[in-house]
Amino acid sequence: MHDTFRVTVSLIKADIGSLAGHHRVFEEQLEVAKAKLKRAKEEGLLIDYFVFNCGDDLQLLMTHTKGENSPDIHRLAWETFKEVTERVSKRLKLYAAGQDLLVEAFSGNIRGMGPGVAEMEIEERPSEPIVVFAADKTEPGAWNLPLFKIFADPFNTAGLVIDPKMHDGFVFEVMDVIEHKVVEIACPEELYDLLALIGTPSRYVIRRVWRKRDRLLTAVASTTRLSLIAGRYVGKDDPVLIIRAQHGLPAVGEILEAFAMPHLVAGWMRGSHHGPLMPVSLKDAKCTRFDGPPRVIALGFQLCHGKLIGPADLFDDPAFDRARMLANQVADYMRQHGPFMPARLGPDEMEYTTLPQVLEKLKERFKPVEE
Ligand code: F6R
Ligand code: MG
Ligand code: MG
Repeated sequence: MHDTFRVTVSLIKADIGSLAGHHRVFEEQLEVAKAKLKRAKEEGLLIDYFVFNCGDDLQLLMTHTKGENSPDIHRLAWETFKEVTERVSKRLKLYAAGQDLLVEAFSGNIRGMGPGVAEMEIEERPSEPIVVFAADKTEPGAWNLPLFKIFADPFNTAGLVIDPKMHDGFVFEVMDVIEHKVVEIACPEELYDLLALIGTPSRYVIRRVWRKRDRLLTAVASTTRLSLIAGRYVGKDDPVLIIRAQHGLPAVGEILEAFAMPHLVAGWMRGSHHGPLMPVSLKDAKCTRFDGPPRVIALGFQLCHGKLIGPADLFDDPAFDRARMLANQVADYMRQHGPFMPARLGPDEMEYTTLPQVLEKLKERFKPVEE
């Protein structure tokens, strides 16, 4: 018999300034964040933690028994971001110091204050492999296509066909980030309805996935849209995602398979362009060309009574070389379009950038058409 143990995995991230423009988090920022979480572990607030970065986003992966939306855990993350901003980003004049901290004081829940959050409270299985994803220079809707493949596409996930525990399918919670509403869609029976929504990733974002037969929570993604909170372009909402794997859930390899095709996502250069999502190792999680191309990392862990055993740097593998090569080819092709749609985002999404200021200037020069 295995004794039941409820653990919460919280991944909270923010861009609070970076080295060489929006390139990457600086070592000293990581050190200050690690020291802060180490103290929280010693004091018993955290069971374990892992601090890392994806490009210019500082990522705090934490395990604890406080449940989702715990004010204690959210405060810890907020104070960590504040401390790193004050002690490192501002002192060293790193670029865009404190960028994602949109409010002054912490008010109980970090959601809506700028940082991105993915959290799941789960009962730890006898063996609990999880995969943690983080992407830079894109937005939460970037997970729609891979999450669809992982949990609803039998051509990606063989287990949907072969494994009786997965054969009933999965339930997706889709969030309308404009209307701030959610809807549950069950697959395979409502597969086309799901696609009708999530094919618009700027508006409809997959937030959670459950296994249908027993409502086992399987995946949780961040859904923060900074521009909708701030009413202006602040930075793209580089998203995070946690997925449980194996033993009646998609295998780690089925989860990773969804990233073998570097699909087009929004968020490249000034949050204003589409680009291929390139799967990379931790060491390559830093954006360069045209502030990109958008990148994604995948870290595998085993949970052991809440301890994070790992990580395995899962895209650090020649099996993803072809995806990276294709991403570079797609990047070449997209870049040749310069400022033209659809390489550049459409007018709706450009509303939150600085483009409207430029267009405003031209307004008065427009004259009625003489027929
Ligand atoms: C930031 C990002 C970058 C910036 C760009 C311009 O995450 O996506 O592409 O938008 O470097 O930045 P500013 O306006 O700060 O010079
Ligand atoms: Mg940045
Ligand atoms: Mg970023």
